[in-house]
Amino acid sequence: MDGDIERILISEKTLERRLATLADEISKAFPRPGDGIMIVTVLSGSIIFLADLIRRLPMKMRIGMVSVSSYRGRTTVPREIVLDTASLPELHGRDVLIVDDILDTGGTLRVVQGEVSRAGARSVKTVVLLRKPDKAPADVIVDFVGFDIEDVFVVGYGLDYNEFYRNLPYVGVLSPKTYGNGSTP
Ligand code: XMP
Repeated sequence: MDGDIERILISEKTLERRLATLADEISKAFPRPGDGIMIVTVLSGSIIFLADLIRRLPMKMRIGMVSVSSYRGRTTVPREIVLDTASLPELHGRDVLIVDDILDTGGTLRVVQGEVSRAGARSVKTVVLLRKPDKAPADVIVDFVGFDIEDVFVVGYGLDYNEFYRNLPYVGVLSPKTYGNGSTP
């Protein structure tokens, strides 16, 4: 599997160190969590980031999940992104932290943030592990960013290509020979 990776972009050690400081930043931003915060995580790319992050957060929390799919020709939400909120607890009046893997074009987060606001959350903050600053749109605001990265397709640490590579312990750049035929992921 490592042979499919062109280079390691963020090593396991670097991830570990940044997770500690990121958790510190987030903890300070929720000084009085009251009856706890509500995590809303976006499946499936965020699962490893989520597991490592929440074990470093000291406050009481509940965890809800959403999944996102893109459907051509469906018009339920803008830009053909459809949100499955079946595993999402009541958000009304809650302090919510959205946890996502990557802010790329921003379509996913725009829909998730909109849904959380519409559900009546008292406050909404967002953390992403990765952001591609060259592509991230100005209207999608994130409060905490693990790493700004160049515009390359990355896998590992939860991120996939065709559902593979999520279990790599680092973030790596997928080798073009892996997806082949001149097509990009
Ligand atoms: P955007 O911000 O474009 O991103 O709505 C939506 C989802 O697309 C996936 N994504 C990636 N997955 N490597 C991946 O493995 C990447 O470089 C990449 N860019 C986007 C990811 O699941 C994100 O939540």
